[in-house]
Amino acid sequence: MEIKKVGVVGCGIMGGGIAQVAAQAGYDVVVSEINDQLLQKGLAGITAQLARGVEKGRITQENKDATLKRIKGTTNTKDFGDCDLVIEAVIENMDLKKKVFADLDKVAPAHAILASNSSCLSIIDMAKATKRPEQVVGMHFFNPVPVMKLLEIVKNILTSEDTVASVKNFGEAIGKTVIVVPDVPAFVVDQLANPFILHAITMVQNGVATAEQIDTGVRLGLNHPMGPLALADLVGLDTILFIANALYDDLKDPKFAPPTLLKKMVAAGWLGRKSGKGFYQY
Ligand SMILES: NC(=O)c1ccc[n+]([C@@H]2O[C@H](COP(=O)([O-])OP(=O)(O)OC[C@H]3O[C@@H](n4cnc5c(N)ncnc54)[C@H](O)[C@@H]3O)[C@@H](O)[C@H]2O)c1
Repeated sequence: MEIKKVGVVGCGIMGGGIAQVAAQAGYDVVVSEINDQLLQKGLAGITAQLARGVEKGRITQENKDATLKRIKGTTNTKDFGDCDLVIEAVIENMDLKKKVFADLDKVAPAHAILASNSSCLSIIDMAKATKRPEQVVGMHFFNPVPVMKLLEIVKNILTSEDTVASVKNFGEAIGKTVIVVPDVPAFVVDQLANPFILHAITMVQNGVATAEQIDTGVRLGLNHPMGPLALADLVGLDTILFIANALYDDLKDPKFAPPTLLKKMVAAGWLGRKSGKGFYQY
């Protein structure tokens, strides 16, 4: 199935980025928010991001204007009524995601594919909230969406090959490198990255090394662009804890058990960059 028009539910960090890259690649995009204030904030974020692109010479002013023209903001789910693909990027909460999928199932055309940008939740559970589980798939983008090249396509146990082929084509058309992964907790990349970050936190907790020592070591010794503790601060320590709990609950493997220091920092409100303090001060 050829995808022409794309819907995005939620215009936060990820939804805004997904709407932007799809529109930049020439797709007509409808992006929704829960109220007008959040919608205007999300759209302003996309505009600012594109304006930075013009300033830095990465895109032209015409490019920016044409991209913005292709994005329509809405607070009405009915506006997804002519989309071929709708990607949800609401907060990481299964009850909310199931409700979003059930609502989308009612308004989206019968042929439309419904996708989730979830970081770690079960795609089959969302799929079963619809009457078209074979047309439900995970599309796990990475932050920041316009910069990060990878797209994990998560095939739930019922996803059809046609659905996978269609979203794979779409992912490549918007400039991503696609890997198709199974519907396991946190999929492939975060299932691998999370215990690495947890181990770094445990090393800080046990006084083995400081955050600076670990991050410098990983950047210069392993050639990662960013150390695991700086990355944890960027992603949000609450998100790291949420993913660790989801992995541990499902897989019962101690390597996913969140260290005490992480739980205490989150309880204290030290969430990383977004709160001004995490392993570093911002
Ligand atoms: N932030 C990351 O680094 C990252 C990376 C990969 C995947 N994800 C996943 O992407 C999803 C979104 O994360 P985010 O960081 O963009 O969150 P965010 O809080 O920045 O954005 C979520 C937005 O969804 C909106 N929303 C909530 N319910 C809605 C509804 N019913 N209809 C329309 N909009 C609604 C909220 O108002 C909010 O603006 C989550 O599932 C998260 O796990 C996040």
